[in-house]
Amino acid sequence: MENIKIDLTNAIPFIDLTDFNKYEKLTAEKNDLLKSKSGKGNEFLGWNNLPNEIPSELISEINLTAKHLNQISEIIVVIGIGGSYLGSKAVIEALSGNFDYLNTNKKNSTILYAGHNLSEDYHYELLNYIKDKTFSIIVISKSGTTTEPSIAFRLLRKEIEDRFGKEQASKRIVAITDSSKGALRELANKEHYKTFDISDDIGGRYSVLTPVGLLPIACAGFNIKDIILGAKSMLKQSEENPFNNNPTYQYAAIRNALYLEGRTIEILANSTPRLNFISEWWKQLFGESEGKENKGIFPASASFTTDLHSIGQYIQDGIRNVFETIISIEKTKYNLSIPTDIDNLDKLNYLEGKSMDYVNKMAELGTSIAHSDGQVPNIKISMPELNEFYIGELLYFFEKSCAISGYLLEINPFDQPGVEAYKNNMFSLLGKPGFEEKSALINKRLKKN
Ligand code: PA5
Repeated sequence: MENIKIDLTNAIPFIDLTDFNKYEKLTAEKNDLLKSKSGKGNEFLGWNNLPNEIPSELISEINLTAKHLNQISEIIVVIGIGGSYLGSKAVIEALSGNFDYLNTNKKNSTILYAGHNLSEDYHYELLNYIKDKTFSIIVISKSGTTTEPSIAFRLLRKEIEDRFGKEQASKRIVAITDSSKGALRELANKEHYKTFDISDDIGGRYSVLTPVGLLPIACAGFNIKDIILGAKSMLKQSEENPFNNNPTYQYAAIRNALYLEGRTIEILANSTPRLNFISEWWKQLFGESEGKENKGIFPASASFTTDLHSIGQYIQDGIRNVFETIISIEKTKYNLSIPTDIDNLDKLNYLEGKSMDYVNKMAELGTSIAHSDGQVPNIKISMPELNEFYIGELLYFFEKSCAISGYLLEINPFDQPGVEAYKNNMFSLLGKPGFEEKSALINKRLKKN
């Protein structure tokens, strides 16, 4: 069985190689902190050994619940924000066909999302779209009190209860939340919803391999056992492989070395739009984990070759504080070769018979040479193909590398204190009880302006 590989050839020239050797010891030390639970944020390390600990009964329960929801729904609406929806959306998009969402004869329910924004039009249109379709709800919130999913759930709960009656509605709602506290847990207990717990020691952005990610992924028809097998494989590699052959150590080390050389922006690039939401998930994972104490690499993303015709110019010639990480898929799912054309007016006959993926790979290679010539280091992550196993490897690869990277920066990669700032202002402006003092201050400030 092949594995995900990391290639640093186009990044190494941008750092001091003798200095890079120090990371062999450093990354192992940081991993030891994770294993011994003696680093910062050690109360949130439940994800670390999770792939080895998921009970088979839980997998069966998730698959059974997914089967039940699929049987009674054309649409399943996943309500959640941040870590409560990004992982499942990323995996479902990576594994689904690009146009599957247009197929009305699918075997599985269509998964739609709510509560990940506060757009009135988005939620109006969603309610309008599902009004003549059978639907169910998976509502996900660890805290059970987050404003965006709470509002969306209130709207969708009213719709589902009006349509199916309270008793039937409660059979169409699954809540994934804390085992004992929070408003969602209270409501779920009161209304007898089917529930899954999020353990206390797993934060939102590290929760994709818990029911938070696994239930929606199973509902979309994908094999969650294989995803876990992939994650297990990467966990094993990260524990057992020596530095030179340890993808998580290599990625954490090169990121830190580049950061210390002034590379403060990382662009995660792909060459297939199916991975665009993996980038969104990755942005949350790294952005929310590392961006604190005025430190951290800013996570950005690009999809090639699309974005080579937009921000490609900036990457090639703009400020040299950028580096790239390119996810390359070795084998496509389908084959499409370039047909011959007797007139050859488009001058493409030199590519006749070549696969479209061959052209894509040459674009990818040409880009990485051009960007490294333009002084942009690039890291290559190769995935043998896009399937459940390699997606599992990729998810755990990023989770583990992110935690080690955070420890290399000497920050706590498992908290997110900065997220409260906008919430406090929003609550004050909305007049939420308990925010009166802040509300008076903020209103005074707004009047002055
Ligand atoms: O990673 C995190 O902890 C956050 O992004 C949360 O997932 C997000 O804020 C949603 O929180 P909750 O699941 O409590 O509604």
